[in-house]
Amino acid sequence: MFHKVVAINRPAIPLLKHHRKTRPLSTMVTTFLVVAGVPLGLYTYKCIMLIAFQNQLIYMGYLPPGSRHNENFKKLIPSSLEIHEETILTEDRKRLHGFIVSKKSAQSASATFIHAGLERSDPIMVYFQGNAGNMSDRFGLFKTALSAVPNMTIIGIGYRQYGNSNGYATESGLKRDAKAILDKIQRKYGPNRPLYLYGHSLGGAVAIDLASTVATNKEKYNIQGIIIENTFTSIYDMVCALYPAYSPYPYIAKYCLWNHWDSDRKIRSLPPSIRLLFLSSKRDEIVPPSHMKQLYSLAQHTHPDNATFVQFERSLHMDIYSTEPRLFQCTLQKFII
Ligand SMILES: *[C@@H]1O[C@H](CO)[C@@H](O)[C@H](O)[C@H]1NC(C)=O
Ligand SMILES: *[C@@H]1O[C@H](CO)[C@@H](O)[C@H](O)[C@H]1NC(C)=O
Ligand SMILES: *[C@@H]1O[C@H](CO)[C@@H](O)[C@H](O)[C@H]1NC(C)=O
Repeated sequence: MFHKVVAINRPAIPLLKHHRKTRPLSTMVTTFLVVAGVPLGLYTYKCIMLIAFQNQLIYMGYLPPGSRHNENFKKLIPSSLEIHEETILTEDRKRLHGFIVSKKSAQSASATFIHAGLERSDPIMVYFQGNAGNMSDRFGLFKTALSAVPNMTIIGIGYRQYGNSNGYATESGLKRDAKAILDKIQRKYGPNRPLYLYGHSLGGAVAIDLASTVATNKEKYNIQGIIIENTFTSIYDMVCALYPAYSPYPYIAKYCLWNHWDSDRKIRSLPPSIRLLFLSSKRDEIVPPSHMKQLYSLAQHTHPDNATFVQFERSLHMDIYSTEPRLFQCTLQKFII
């Protein structure tokens, strides 16, 4: 067959003799390009895209579709909850939208107290959400938490570029948002209400960062405790967890990440008087449970008496409150006093 091909080719291309010398080289180059170059090019392209679009990969307020349209969130409100919309302006003039949530029966009493300007000892929980979806997706969690601690007020405000908040999400932007939310609460409720920061996943990093920056101002911000649910040690560690060690990503991430969220560094700077609660899903399919264990072991050095770790045997990344509601509620009750 090979002979046949050669035999057919020879008379058909008179210039073949002239080109014969260069042909193996061009074939080699072509072969190389196809076999190695194309995948290499695609791979480089993928790496560049992963770096260039890291904000889109980390801050996914656009998922699931519809998360940025709040026309019908009222339909999602559980009947036992009293929910008021709240808008907060950040120092760089972004408008954040979210909710003040309380249990219905307790609402009239607390409204009277707020209007009368009395100081109350009821706790406030500031909820920082994970990197996808919006605040109305958390109404179920709020409901479960409020039936455990009925006199608590939960404040859940969407970060910039989440839900109905405008702007573009970045690490420094989300930090600004968290500070603006805390300042608004401080202005609205005064310095006496005990504050608890609750952060799920990326929100845990936001909560830890916020507490580490305001911790020195104890008179102004009455932060009693931080609840961390399935959060990661840092974005870099997440890249290492998502991609195998032999891939170039961990190496690239070391130099090209501009999002850090390094809770493993910041957790050590929290004052020992702020109590820490770690809620960890054993079957977390997104953040390896070892991240929570590591954060806890770091916290044990600075918070020998004030760090608690609770493991949820059957839960996944997002569903502690619905998969193991009893343990979730008991744990919150014990922690929030
Ligand atoms: C959140 O997303 C859902 C759709 O997933 C939407 O119905 C709801 O209105 C959104 N809520 C807010 C506050 O944007
Ligand atoms: C633990 O927290 C409590 C309450 O905030 C505080 O009184 C206590 O001193 C803390 N323990 C340590 C070892 O700092
Ligand atoms: C609020 O509830 C907690 C525990 O559920 C309780 O310890 C606290 O005294 C209550 N606060 C008020 C003002 O009733």
